[in-house]
Amino acid sequence: MPKPRVVLGVGGGIAAYKACEVLRRFSESGHDVTPVPTASALEFVGAPTWAALSGKPVASDVWSQVQEVPHVRIGQTADLVVVAPATADLLAKAAHGLADDLLTNTLLTARCPVVMAPAMHTEMWEHPATQANVATLRSRGIVVLEPAEGRLTGKDTGKGRLPEPVEIYEVAADVLARSRTGGATADLAGRRVLVSAGGTREYLDPVRFLGNRSSGRQGYALARAAVARGAQVTLVAANVDLPDPAGVSVVRVETTEQLRDAVVAGAKDADAVVMAAAPADFRPASFSDAKIKKLADGSAAPLELVQNPDILAAISHERARPGSVVVGFAAETGDATGSVLELGRAKLARKGCDLLVVNDVSGGAVFGSADNEAVILGADGASVEVPRAAKGVLAHAIWDQVATRL
Ligand code: CTP
Repeated sequence: MPKPRVVLGVGGGIAAYKACEVLRRFSESGHDVTPVPTASALEFVGAPTWAALSGKPVASDVWSQVQEVPHVRIGQTADLVVVAPATADLLAKAAHGLADDLLTNTLLTARCPVVMAPAMHTEMWEHPATQANVATLRSRGIVVLEPAEGRLTGKDTGKGRLPEPVEIYEVAADVLARSRTGGATADLAGRRVLVSAGGTREYLDPVRFLGNRSSGRQGYALARAAVARGAQVTLVAANVDLPDPAGVSVVRVETTEQLRDAVVAGAKDADAVVMAAAPADFRPASFSDAKIKKLADGSAAPLELVQNPDILAAISHERARPGSVVVGFAAETGDATGSVLELGRAKLARKGCDLLVVNDVSGGAVFGSADNEAVILGADGASVEVPRAAKGVLAHAIWDQVATRL
């Protein structure tokens, strides 16, 4: 089978050097990559670098090898176009259909999925002109990643950083994989979704907490998959030690009460909320400012717990946004009162959500693992079995169910 053809457009910003790593990831994972840097990108990273990394001649104008008509052929034959970094100027040109060099011509002739990773100073990103261009591109089904926050070119920090190359690769490769298997690539375009991930910590004193085994991987896979389908994603992460997915706004929390506040605030303008986090059901009744000491007589320490708010039930029963879809997770082992699925059905009704993703955790295998399997139950009676596969596969199966209910 021929290798999938990826065009890597590179705009003229300081982050152009990071695109070398995006190129390397794609070629090492079996893609045929054609780099198309703009003339200004070549001011940052020269043509020999792109030629050496791709094994192809490099041009930024339409006047080289004209007999092969590259200004239409590259776009027409591409399976995916990724632009990283996309400057404000490039976004403007793409939104308005300008075509004054090889990359902008390629963007006009491509009929494959397009992923753009903007990087620029915060002021340029926030300018109404840029925001209008981004909205136009998104409305056409182009996946425009939200820039990351952090250090910019100079000493300043803010929104506008290019996401990490490996994360751009992950999202773009997912978009390509879905389009090649016939999956919808922009069915969440224009939608805002909120995903919670990780496990909360309930502090006893400044050094100790009650926690749980959730790694956050399933929630992060959900956030990544939603970005690849065009959604604007907020990820509320509780104590997760994973890199930020590209294009996602990450809100960090520690305790269940902080998680509740962040989820309730975000749910107000979210079309879908997926509660993949594992909030602690209980927290210590009081917090000791000083480290708790051992008891001199060796007796058992008293530990009084109080119940935490049930976030899923709260946002399901009182929808901040009418018509929004709420998804919960249930890790069950089955017991004398019922099987895993019977307990799942009962929980779905009790929580009042639209979908409940039921995991059988009898073996404890799911925690920290890259794989997962589950049954997605719908309040409408639906039941969809997702066999063991990478957590990204379950993530897309969940968004399939959400998308049909939006
Ligand atoms: N959840 C929540 N707030 C909590 C506890 C859980 O929003 N305080 C959410 C989880 O994110 C998950 C779902 O509820 O989506 C199921 O969590 P689970 O712990 O299985 O539910 P419980 O209410 O604890 O059910 P039970 O103790 O009866 O098994």
